Amino acid sequence: MINMTEYEKRRQELMQKIGPHSIAILPSAKEVLRNGDAFFPFRQQSDFYYLTGFAEPDAVVVLIPNRKEGEYILFNRVRDKEREIWDGPRAGQEGANKEFLAHESFPISELENKLPELLVGKESIHYPLGLNRNFDDLLMASLNKVRAKLRSGLQSPLALIDITPSLHEMRLFKSPSEIATLQKAIDITRLGHIRAMEVCEPGMNEYQVEAELLHEFLRHGAKYCAYNPIVGAGRNSCILHYINNNQVISDGDLVLIDAGAEYQHYAADITRTFPANGRFSGEQRAIYDLVLASQLAAIEKAKPGALWTDMQTVILKVITQGLVDLNILKGDVDNLIEQRAYFPFYMHNSGHWLGLDVHDVGRYRVDDKWRTLQPGIVLTVEPGIYISQDIPKVDKRWHNIGVRIEDNVVITDKGCDVLSKNIPKTASEIEAIMAN
Ligand code: GLY
Ligand code: MN
Ligand code: MN
Repeated sequence: MINMTEYEKRRQELMQKIGPHSIAILPSAKEVLRNGDAFFPFRQQSDFYYLTGFAEPDAVVVLIPNRKEGEYILFNRVRDKEREIWDGPRAGQEGANKEFLAHESFPISELENKLPELLVGKESIHYPLGLNRNFDDLLMASLNKVRAKLRSGLQSPLALIDITPSLHEMRLFKSPSEIATLQKAIDITRLGHIRAMEVCEPGMNEYQVEAELLHEFLRHGAKYCAYNPIVGAGRNSCILHYINNNQVISDGDLVLIDAGAEYQHYAADITRTFPANGRFSGEQRAIYDLVLASQLAAIEKAKPGALWTDMQTVILKVITQGLVDLNILKGDVDNLIEQRAYFPFYMHNSGHWLGLDVHDVGRYRVDDKWRTLQPGIVLTVEPGIYISQDIPKVDKRWHNIGVRIEDNVVITDKGCDVLSKNIPKTASEIEAIMAN
């Protein structure tokens, strides 16, 4: 959905940022062994993908503003008939130029030889410092080769600069085609969550519900999840990053599902919570409606010019007031917020940026102040209340009620658009789906 000219525009923008006497260098991800000789599924490094759209391992992108033989050089794997019989096709150097718009491309095996000559005369090298130890070593060795020839009049780069802050600032602001791709990831995720609600019943195992989610993701072209899915019933709904997903779901449990599809490298990140038997109990409904009220209040705050922290501030107010109203906390609301009395029940932030990575890049503080939201930023809004049975002095009728509600939101010129607005969210919508 994102065409090659958009990647070209991104490379141009990055070259503008680093300036005419610089060079930018980024390595791809590597294949990683899982066990024995079996690999994890390959996933491209997100910065590399953002600049190239190229999803093969063993590649390096080099950008050199104003270089007369071409500004965009791709080092990548050579075509290899025998390997391709086993592993499938590779772009090779011809594909790098034709399909991926590289101005020049070379076999990755030539990187070590070619890199020193590309560094000559540059004032600064921009690259992801410390991301990849082997790559750090290769770059230092290339730099030393240039330095060794200083007497012959060559100039070696003077500065090594971390490329990630400028690149991540670009990644924070999503283009229309990125938002469309995120929307697709979210729409697939919606089908999974709805199917899970429809199929779930007491007596099933958590992994059986997980299987229903994955079924929808996979059959709609989202081969991978954006992160390990969380399917937690009963007391497991109170464990924030529960991923074992292997316990039997009981009548009377709440089921918390935090799962998002990855589509064309973009992540959805959605949480819904529902009663295993299809009807919220009075206590479950009270907590559910409180979390929902806090989430709607936070989404109300998500607009251009708002501080990143405005959402958390309103969530803390609504949740603390609600816990007092339910007699779970006692005291003055402002004092309770000041003392962080909510913390045993709500111990995380309002959300995070979302994009190629589920916890996407981009700073939350700029110039020592919290960032203000601006159009094109995509974020999650995900308050929760988790009443673990281990929290002292809470009446046991509230025990093991864990609720999180998480939506994905893009900031627009006027306010925001909830990209996941079609995923059932109110208690009555959820009960209606589960009744069918
Ligand atoms: N699924 C991880 C998160 O919600 O941040
Ligand atoms: Mn999540
Ligand atoms: Mn999240």
